[in-house]
Amino acid sequence: MSVEESLERSTSAASLAHAQRLSEKIKEKINTSPEEFRVLTGDRPTGNLHLGHYFGSLRNRVELQRKGVETWLVIADFQVITDRDGTGPIRERVRSLATDYLAVGIDPDAAVIFPHSAIPGLNELMLPFLSLVTDAELRRNPTVKAEHEATGGRPLSGLLLTYPVHQAADILFCKANLVPVGKDQLPHLEQARVIADRFEARYGRPAGRETPVFPRPQALLSEGTSILGLDGAKMSKSRGNTIEIGMSADETAKRIKKAVTDSDRHITYDPEGRPEVSNLLLLASLAQGRPAVEIAEEIGDGGAGTLKKIVTESINEMFAPIRAKRAELAKDPGYVDGIVRRGIEMANERANKTLAEVREALQMVY
Ligand code: TRP
Repeated sequence: MSVEESLERSTSAASLAHAQRLSEKIKEKINTSPEEFRVLTGDRPTGNLHLGHYFGSLRNRVELQRKGVETWLVIADFQVITDRDGTGPIRERVRSLATDYLAVGIDPDAAVIFPHSAIPGLNELMLPFLSLVTDAELRRNPTVKAEHEATGGRPLSGLLLTYPVHQAADILFCKANLVPVGKDQLPHLEQARVIADRFEARYGRPAGRETPVFPRPQALLSEGTSILGLDGAKMSKSRGNTIEIGMSADETAKRIKKAVTDSDRHITYDPEGRPEVSNLLLLASLAQGRPAVEIAEEIGDGGAGTLKKIVTESINEMFAPIRAKRAELAKDPGYVDGIVRRGIEMANERANKTLAEVREALQMVY
């Protein structure tokens, strides 16, 4: 390992630990004063949401909202074209994502759901924000690097290089101070804080303002329940190893039937030694809300067949109400579209306000 590499690793381990400690403190604060927080988070509309999304982030968002935290959800449609040539069936995907949000329990009356392409004021923030970052900073971003590597030799697009700045605009246009994300998003959060700080340092505040134009957004790290795909690799739509939130009970059963296991009939929870079997146990554990070890002990010598049966039953049972709601919503696309249109209106109103403050700070008011 080069000095540079080891330096990079140790700093990111230290900053991960720091982010985790901070997240714990924030969680305590949310319980006592939820009104002090505004959450913004979101997803790329590249495919249907799966159980990895559900256990990794969606259910936390619902929980935050239930606690009374104001919630903004960005459907990051521009991020779809950071590393591909077309937008695909984007309208259907945006609608499907919004449908998933509502089906899992996001309250449409208390949340703002919007695709960022429909918010000109948000997108315009990208210009002044770009002036606040350097190309070296952007090129160092480990998540951008990893995403670029995953494209297998595709030239790095300007949008892939700069999307963390656009993501800062997603967060800052509505002055969110809390961003629930997985650890891969920490570099982007750091970039957003740097942008907020530099904006304040360079342009200060419009006359008469007491607080900075942009708050410093903090990450709220998700619990770290990361589940694997049914083949033991990372859960991803393109590998066909996912269980989608919207799948039917039969489709779920079929997928789980094909899941990879091992030849030891005695079922044990051993994530290091038996990743595939343990991942199935983890799924059952999450769905049943009790320890994986306990479930493993009950199965004992029952083998992979029993394990799969239990996983299938517990997932289908847990997701039955969500799926029923999803099916109902899917019958009424006009309703879902209406929620998104209202989200767009509210986001535009907020973006225009923020943009006016930015113009004032830049003295670009004509
Ligand atoms: N980049 C995020 C992802 O791939 C999605 C996203 C877009 C996001 N804008 C955001 C997340 C703003 C948090 C805040 O998952």
